[in-house]
Amino acid sequence: MKISPLPCAKMLFVCCAERVGGIPSCGIKGRQLLLALQANLDRNGVKGVELVPSGCLGHCAADPVVIAAPPRVWCAVGPADVAAVAEVLKGMAGDACG
Ligand code: FES
Repeated sequence: MKISPLPCAKMLFVCCAERVGGIPSCGIKGRQLLLALQANLDRNGVKGVELVPSGCLGHCAADPVVIAAPPRVWCAVGPADVAAVAEVLKGMAGDACG
């Protein structure tokens, strides 16, 4: 087994999971959030934060859920929060991903 460092020191996991049977889930809202955040970071030249689509993060009744690691925090993010989250991510940005 070879252990390798992650390509980015900072990662933001965005739940894009679709749960079946009418159970609340992030799904399309998560995918839209991911695209909006990536567009914001690209537009502002922010490097060093990787946005990662993820499976269920366990808080399905909230708006799309994101987890930032580090610092290992989570929050629900609505469309009105994209600019504020992007500002936080700018502050998190480390070395460019490689
Ligand atoms: S479906 Fe997103 S947290 Fe469960």
